[in-house]
Amino acid sequence: METLQINTESKKYPVFIGNTVLDGLAPFIQDLSPKVTSILIISDETVNRLYFQGTAEKLESISRSLHSFVIPSGDREKSFDNYYKCLTFALERGLDRHSLIIALGGGMIGDLAGFVAGTYMRGIRFIQLPTTLLAHDSAVGGKTGINHPLGKNMVGVFHQPEAVFYSTSFLKSLAEEEWRSGFAEVIKHSLIADEAFYHWLVNEVTEIQKIPDEKLAYILKTAIAIKAQVVAQDERESGLRAILNFGHTLGHAIESKAGYGAISHGDAVSIGMRFALKLSESISGKNLHYIAINKWFRKFCYPVIPPQLEAEALLETMKRDKKSTMGHVKMVLLQEIGQACVQEVNDTLLLDSLEEFIMADKEQNSE
Ligand SMILES: NC(=O)c1ccc[n+]([C@@H]2O[C@H](COP(=O)([O-])OP(=O)(O)OC[C@H]3O[C@@H](n4cnc5c(N)ncnc54)[C@H](O)[C@@H]3O)[C@@H](O)[C@H]2O)c1
Repeated sequence: METLQINTESKKYPVFIGNTVLDGLAPFIQDLSPKVTSILIISDETVNRLYFQGTAEKLESISRSLHSFVIPSGDREKSFDNYYKCLTFALERGLDRHSLIIALGGGMIGDLAGFVAGTYMRGIRFIQLPTTLLAHDSAVGGKTGINHPLGKNMVGVFHQPEAVFYSTSFLKSLAEEEWRSGFAEVIKHSLIADEAFYHWLVNEVTEIQKIPDEKLAYILKTAIAIKAQVVAQDERESGLRAILNFGHTLGHAIESKAGYGAISHGDAVSIGMRFALKLSESISGKNLHYIAINKWFRKFCYPVIPPQLEAEALLETMKRDKKSTMGHVKMVLLQEIGQACVQEVNDTLLLDSLEEFIMADKEQNSE
């Protein structure tokens, strides 16, 4: 088992990574102070079917009342409606200020359940039990929230969990596209902060779904450590933390315009990263390996930009991105592989670059 410590200004907490970490869940909860009065597990239908029973068994030694709320699977469910339903359920079951919420699921559940925990009675404790590869990113750092039809993750709070129990045994049942989606965030962490890790990934990972356990453990530990370092310096994204949004300015716009859940988060981010990389090359005049990285992404079957999306509509959505100020888009760009910065990019350059990018992707798709 690996243990990483997350040190943010508001809270310090552990991330346990490994096959058997859930054995430590009940003792961890027993030790929390003040004592936990009741537990609510929030999960989605797929995860509930696969893992609720096993998780509940791990909690048998705790004599508090255990409740379960299940919502349908998919990113469109990270909604006001489900947020409201969770709050109603929690009130009906009498959860109080010393209750604990457990987010059992991928990033969708982690964000939604974390937001419920962050706002119920002005904030109660929660624990993340991530079940996807992508959730190595979402479960750490304390960003919680839900989508609005006009923009991804537009409503939320910063609320750090008490702990993250990352059981790699959950990952075995992930579908191929979910491995790919999660791996996009792994690639992101390497590109923004760790050139050696990027080269390691290129050389050592040949098939995303068949990563041997010891390599998977190394990947999770390295990627989470990068995220931990960034959030330790800037918990509330007043500066540095924005680099974690590499690929997300366009990625979020794609998710929002295509309809939440129509394209996976990681697939959308992979397109956003290619765009940001291309733009970084044209602004800096440097060779940042766009051609090689584009080929690498194609090898792993990351998609091209959905052909029905238009540059102007995407730009309008990008202007609502949380990094934007007064309608000016700020992009996370690379200065080098492993070194990111945030830069304002004017509308004309963005629109021209987007049109060129969409055209190139269409050609690539028809090859
Ligand atoms: N808070 C943050 O810092 C942060 C960072 C990155 C992404 N996110 C958010 O995370 C979300 C994407 O996360 P995700 O890709 O994990 O999505 P997800 O939670 O929707 O999971 C993807 C799919 O996999 C299924 N699934 C989950 N675990 C499974 C398992 N072990 N076996 C089989 N199927 C399983 C789910 O039911 C779902 O259908 C987005 O909403 C994104 O905005 C948040």
